[in-house]
Amino acid sequence: MNYEKENNKRIKRLRDLLKLEEKSKKYHIKTYGCQMNEHDSEKIRYILEEIGYSETKNLEEADFILYNTCIVRENAELKVYGHVGALKHLKEKNQDLIIAICGCMMQVEHSRQTIIEKYPQVDIIFGTKSISTLPILLEKHLEDGRTAVDISEFDSINEQFNHIRDHKYIAYVNIMTGCNNFCTYCAVPYARGREDSRSPESILKEIKELANLGYKEITLLGQNVNSYGLDKENYPSFARLLEQVHEIDGIERIRFLTSHPKDISNELIEIMGKLPKVCKQIHLPFQSGSNRILKEMNRHYTKEKYLKIIDKIKKIDPRFVFSTDIMVGFPGETEEDFQETLDLVKKVEFEQAFTFIYSPREGTRAAEMEDQIPEKVVQDRFQRLLDEVYDIFYKKNKQYVGKIEDVLVEGVSKNDPDTMTGRSEGYKLVHFPGTEKDIGKVIPVKIEEFNSFVLVGSRI
Ligand code: 5AD
Ligand code: SF4
Repeated sequence: MNYEKENNKRIKRLRDLLKLEEKSKKYHIKTYGCQMNEHDSEKIRYILEEIGYSETKNLEEADFILYNTCIVRENAELKVYGHVGALKHLKEKNQDLIIAICGCMMQVEHSRQTIIEKYPQVDIIFGTKSISTLPILLEKHLEDGRTAVDISEFDSINEQFNHIRDHKYIAYVNIMTGCNNFCTYCAVPYARGREDSRSPESILKEIKELANLGYKEITLLGQNVNSYGLDKENYPSFARLLEQVHEIDGIERIRFLTSHPKDISNELIEIMGKLPKVCKQIHLPFQSGSNRILKEMNRHYTKEKYLKIIDKIKKIDPRFVFSTDIMVGFPGETEEDFQETLDLVKKVEFEQAFTFIYSPREGTRAAEMEDQIPEKVVQDRFQRLLDEVYDIFYKKNKQYVGKIEDVLVEGVSKNDPDTMTGRSEGYKLVHFPGTEKDIGKVIPVKIEEFNSFVLVGSRI
């Protein structure tokens, strides 16, 4: 069957069913969680705009509301229930309002069942591998009025998807989905399934198209990019894939997310150093500085090994900037374990860090562990961790004063129309006075001021 032909017919039927010729309709998307989800929302936007909806940031005026959900922490999950519950009154006001939920939460049976059973206002539910069934589900729902659900594995990682991207010059490109690591605290492998690498041909085709459209920077996405290709025969290693991406004309900067310290190879470190377009910046989550906790987390490295990797990368190029994920309050974490985490933070001096309070997730091994840490103790450690990392950000940012950073300008600052905002090669947020003409260009900026989170300067 010709999928595209079928899809076009369906889009026409949907326009009639939704009466889009007579009345314009709007969609609103709220995305939780990581860059994978943000990128999935870019696909969903394309589908909704193809049908004929236009985007609104205002929930109250939307005719189609979608939540793209995350399961990493309980808080994010509870927020979704809260928001969906609050939509009941909007639905009472507007009988035609359509509510949809997708993302990792919907991949997990008990979360999905909770939505189906307790939130009848939800009309459409789909999973992370069935995004392109959205038009089918919408049609089904409009015809029978019931909740349409699809969590099948309909979409192949190799398919070329259309997106409405958040940015004009920087883009995400999926290179693999899923994770085989089963860190004992993490629900992602249960939601997103096993590692599935996208073919290099499909990846390179998408990046070439992006380059032709004028995109300058791409971020290769995967839960664990260092194991790219290992699940398939004859696929290149991640390091070799980087080399191939590097050859594409027009792309000036290459980043990737996320790396696992246990899988960083010498081959990759050397290639990162060798390829000028690969940004000298790496996100390398360490989670905990305590070897005992790292073992309990099933992370397969020690604090010493982590520090060795950082040293190796710095030796290849001292300009490298490091960012990380850190967790406090894992079951059994003692004050000594926490001190090891602080020590690692001080030794590496990360320039960016995502800090997490451990959240027990149903079905994971850590949720069953005894010795869950009392909330008060965790809060106290978390605050001390924040104090430390913010001090380090400040100290590191101070070192940029007087230096020149090449900034890829992404847009106008939210607070001031005469200030442009962009990222340096090291992914530092930089502001400087400029005009909209600067957007999409790489501009050398001399840093003059700073705080813990932003560098401010002027063009030279
Ligand atoms: N609780 C808190 N943080 C978590 N993360 C993953 N699972 C959990 C959890 N159960 C964090 C890790 C990971 C990041 C994406 O989310 O630090 O690197
Ligand atoms: Fe979760 Fe660990 Fe996989 Fe990251 S590597 S997605 S933390 S299981």
